[in-house]
Amino acid sequence: MAFKLMCSVALLLSLWSTAGCDFLVEGVLKMECHDRYFMIAIDLATTGEAPRFEAVDETGTYAITEDYAAKCGYSISVLSFLGLVELRASYFSCHTVKEAGFSFRFNLITTYQGVDAYYALNRTCSPPLSWSPREVTCEINYMEVSVRSELPCPSGLSNDWSALSPLYSAASQDWQVTFQNPDEQLPPMNLSHARREGYVFDLFNERIVFRTPYGQPDSYSTEVNGVPVEVVHATVFSRQSWVVIMVDLIAACSLDEGSFDSGYMIWDTPEALYPSLGSTQISLGLNGNLVEEAAAEQKGFVMARYNSTVQIGIPYNAEGGYRKSFVSDGIFEFYIFNLYLKQTSVDERHEETALRFHRTLVTPLLPASLTTEDQTNVAEGAFTIVLGRIPRDVQLTSVQLNGQELSVPFSDAAPYTLTEVVHANKTHSYTLKVPLDDPVVIQEFSKENAAMLHKLDVNCTLIAIPGNEPYYHTVSVTALMDVSPPSFDAVCTASGIDFKLAYRSFDYLWDISIGSDRLTPALAAKRGYTMSNDSQSLLLSVPLFTHGYKYKDVTLKGFLGTFEILVRDRDTSKVQTSTIKTCLFNTTELILCSTNGWMTVATDLAAVLPSGEIPTNTHLINSLCVPKEADGTRVLFSLPLHSCGSVVKLAKGNVTYQNKIYSVLADNVTEGMTVQCTYPLTSLHLLFSSHKFVSDKEGVGSIIPFLGPTKAIPTQTVTRPGTTTTVAPQRTRIPNLHLPPFYPTARYIKVYRVQNQFGPFSKGTKGSMQVKQFPRHV
Ligand SMILES: *[C@@H]1O[C@H](CO)[C@@H](O)[C@H](O)[C@H]1NC(C)=O
Ligand SMILES: *[C@@H]1O[C@H](CO)[C@@H](O)[C@H](O)[C@H]1NC(C)=O
Ligand SMILES: *[C@@H]1O[C@H](CO)[C@@H](O)[C@H](O)[C@H]1NC(C)=O
Ligand SMILES: *[C@@H]1O[C@H](CO)[C@@H](O)[C@H](O)[C@H]1NC(C)=O
Ligand SMILES: *[C@@H]1O[C@H](CO)[C@@H](O)[C@H](O)[C@H]1NC(C)=O
Ligand SMILES: *[C@@H]1O[C@H](CO)[C@@H](O)[C@H](O)[C@H]1NC(C)=O
Ligand SMILES: *[C@@H]1O[C@H](CO)[C@@H](O)[C@H](O)[C@H]1NC(C)=O
Ligand SMILES: *[C@@H]1O[C@H](CO)[C@@H](O)[C@H](O)[C@H]1NC(C)=O
Ligand SMILES: *[C@@H]1O[C@H](CO)[C@@H](O)[C@H](O)[C@H]1NC(C)=O
Repeated sequence: MAFKLMCSVALLLSLWSTAGCDFLVEGVLKMECHDRYFMIAIDLATTGEAPRFEAVDETGTYAITEDYAAKCGYSISVLSFLGLVELRASYFSCHTVKEAGFSFRFNLITTYQGVDAYYALNRTCSPPLSWSPREVTCEINYMEVSVRSELPCPSGLSNDWSALSPLYSAASQDWQVTFQNPDEQLPPMNLSHARREGYVFDLFNERIVFRTPYGQPDSYSTEVNGVPVEVVHATVFSRQSWVVIMVDLIAACSLDEGSFDSGYMIWDTPEALYPSLGSTQISLGLNGNLVEEAAAEQKGFVMARYNSTVQIGIPYNAEGGYRKSFVSDGIFEFYIFNLYLKQTSVDERHEETALRFHRTLVTPLLPASLTTEDQTNVAEGAFTIVLGRIPRDVQLTSVQLNGQELSVPFSDAAPYTLTEVVHANKTHSYTLKVPLDDPVVIQEFSKENAAMLHKLDVNCTLIAIPGNEPYYHTVSVTALMDVSPPSFDAVCTASGIDFKLAYRSFDYLWDISIGSDRLTPALAAKRGYTMSNDSQSLLLSVPLFTHGYKYKDVTLKGFLGTFEILVRDRDTSKVQTSTIKTCLFNTTELILCSTNGWMTVATDLAAVLPSGEIPTNTHLINSLCVPKEADGTRVLFSLPLHSCGSVVKLAKGNVTYQNKIYSVLADNVTEGMTVQCTYPLTSLHLLFSSHKFVSDKEGVGSIIPFLGPTKAIPTQTVTRPGTTTTVAPQRTRIPNLHLPPFYPTARYIKVYRVQNQFGPFSKGTKGSMQVKQFPRHV
């Protein structure tokens, strides 16, 4: 397309100008000659200031203002949201030059940063169709009627109408116009007066032309078959001697604004705005393209005639329609159609009237039905949300995940993904993925589902482009995830086992226990565990020989100690899982008093022997009982409590089994250790009922050094010249040694007798019953 550009110097110097002068390239600007009008369309693809137009002819340039356009036969429609501007000029417009064809000259003026750029556009059109005797155009801003000036002479008078031709010439000053409405005939006025009132009468191309804006004082509104219609009835007349020449110029246009129903934009016009023999012929289309009725129906248009009304239905998605999304408390869309319709009627004199409509029809705001689909698959470990059916001109600009704002597109570092899919049906969709374990996801335990509930509130900001009004589309999704009880990390140390639990948010669901006792700071303190517990983690150090250990494979080299932590359901106390740790410890000194009646003791006699002496032999009270293992001064004994000459002592509800380790140095049997296990009597009821040594509780053992057969040494401390040795403290054990069951022997009579001496003890306590029962079993 070739046309002259007149870029201003200022514009050329501006940045924009480098591309600016060429911006009206092919496709951006379109000039077309249509059947009855010339059109300039510009697709600016931006929504800046709309361009202006000037009409140009040999007499000058004329700015096409709103009023001037309506009076002079120009229509400018602006679809600002699409950046589309269209100028239509009637072939009879004020500044059309009739030469070989119809010539149009315009200046297109665009403004950029306050600087105007002028583009001179010209085109000559030859109207492709012959003209009907009467033609009426119902433009968006004016009505125009033209009639052939060589009218048939109804009364057979002279056919010479040349007198009408120079309507504006001095000789025609006597031409008058009178308007009439159904009620009255208004007083006549001369044509220059009429022009001042906004009417244009002209003689053009052998036709008398009358043009009026809508809503003039001399027009009237009426209803024809229920359709609103505006009518202007002008009669121009001239008295020349005895002949009065009158020409009736009637413009009648349907003012129906259209309605939307079931996907169709409906528009009505009366069948008989002008006298018609039979029904009128219709052709129609969008954006100035007329097609016959049948072809239009093929394109999806529907047409119905009833009650003397023609009803047109334009499908909402008709090709050539415009669609726009609109955001206001929701996403809406509307459609705009530039309907062009030609209605031809023939009167009883076979004179044709062609009526053309330009109508801009706008649907109401139709709610757009965005869809949200929760496609979360818990196994995938992420929320998957699909936001679909988003109109093409609506963009996702940001997303809030539980209130945390992320602008779109997401940064590569974000652990979330957002993918966009564009569909053929002019919608697009977004797929959002958020890992379930992401900190942004809220997790809480759901009692009824016995699972972890993951919650994510998504607040999407959508904006219709162009525009900046946001629409917030919110969706809340949840996912249930089964939860596993916690498990500890455990490490062996020289003196015990350290357990560590890094808390997860839902670990409060479980209780932690050692055996049947719930782990609390009080329990830990009582048993000598070291515990630290904060919001992050729980650390528990269990020193060897504290309550809860089980021992195995005791030798002088080492032994296995096992500690177990149980995880219980907080409500049912059912054990859900446990952490068991077994460590190999060095055997230094230990005494284990099993619940099934065995004492295992490992000790170093060096503490009670003269320095450097190594015993040739060691034994218990019964000298036949020798160590299971001996290594220099270190010895390991394992014996049933009642054997090897053990002494049984009763004291204040405890029973103590005591033995002694003697060392043999040369021939002297002297230094050694007293070893003993003490059990609370209350835990030994089976001993009395079924003669079976089974203690509810492990015994408390102690190793007490002694010097010589008679000389007792203060408990737990041995004092030797120059040295003070602290002997191992009381030690406990949980039974785990595979030892044979112990059956009481006659020695138990001793227990009975001794116990009997403690009269008060046998009364009013649990123990008394056992004591009374005892003789029955002996
Ligand atoms: C009309 O435009 C053409 C270029 O398209 C140019 O050559 C011609 O001079 C213009 N005519 C007028 C009258 O401006
Ligand atoms: C037209 O009519 C107006 C009064 O309505 C009058 O003032 C004017 O002179 C007339 N013009 C001509 C050309 O007759
Ligand atoms: C036809 O028009 C008449 C009067 O104008 C009206 O009463 C009637 O309802 C119309 N019929 C239909 C089907 O619209
Ligand atoms: C457009 O196509 C997509 C994908 O085929 C579909 O999910 C969506 O529902 C369609 N939208 C409309 C409005 O039909
Ligand atoms: C979504 O985000 C916007 C902007 O922050 C806020 O005004 C709106 O209340 C949010 N909507 C919901 C449901 O949280
Ligand atoms: C056990 O004893 C051996 C040899 O005396 C020593 O190397 C090792 O470190 C000790 N282990 C512990 C846990 O104390
Ligand atoms: C650790 O602390 C939390 C909260 O402070 C408490 O609920 C929990 O019972 C504590 N755990 C233990 C084993 O004391
Ligand atoms: C024996 O029992 C008494 C009272 O029941 C208690 O105070 C004492 O500590 C016990 N002795 C041992 C060695 O357990
Ligand atoms: C045995 O003990 C006596 C006195 O306590 C001592 O004199 C003697 O030397 C000892 N015998 C040996 C072999 O150590």
